[in-house]
Amino acid sequence: MVEVRLRVNGTDEPLDIQPQVSLLDALREYLGLTGTKKGCDQGACGACTVLADGERINSCLALAVQYEGREITTIEGLDHPLQGAFVRHDGFQCGYCTSGQICSAVGMLAEHKDGMPSAVTKQASGGELSAAEIRERMSGNLCRCGAYNGIVGAIQEVAR
Ligand code: FES
Ligand code: FES
Repeated sequence: MVEVRLRVNGTDEPLDIQPQVSLLDALREYLGLTGTKKGCDQGACGACTVLADGERINSCLALAVQYEGREITTIEGLDHPLQGAFVRHDGFQCGYCTSGQICSAVGMLAEHKDGMPSAVTKQASGGELSAAEIRERMSGNLCRCGAYNGIVGAIQEVAR
C-alpha cells in the first residue's frame, strides 16, 4: 500500500491504495465519485475523462499515484456553461458518456483557445470552431446512443 494525497474538486483526499490503482478506480471506488464512468477501461471510449490542472485525461489510463499534487476536476466539481448547453441541445440519451463528453469538451475548448492544433490534422483553426472540427477534436469520446448532433450543438453554442 502507498499513501497518496489527491486533490479532487478542491478537497484534499488522503488515500491508502495499491500503487497500481488507476485514477478512475480511486475516484469511483475509494472516493465514491461515480459521475466519472468506466466504459472500456483501456483508453478507447473517453467515458472516464476528467480534468487534471484543466487538461483532459483518460483516468482509466492514469495511475492515481501519478496525480498527487495535481488539481483533479470531475463532473461533480464542475460548474461550466456546457452543462446547461447539453441539456438545451439534448446532448445525451442514456447519459453514460455525458460526464466524459463534458469534461473532454471543457479541456478541448481550452486547447483550442490556446491555439493547440488538432491531434488529427495537426492544424489549429485559429477561428470559430466548425462542427467538423468539434467532431474531430472530440473523436476520443464515443457515444453509443449516437447523440452526436446534440453534443456538437451544445459545444458550438458555448464555443461561440
Ligand atoms: Fe477510459 Fe474508456 S473507460 S477510455
Ligand atoms: Fe448514451 Fe452517450 S448518451 S452513450
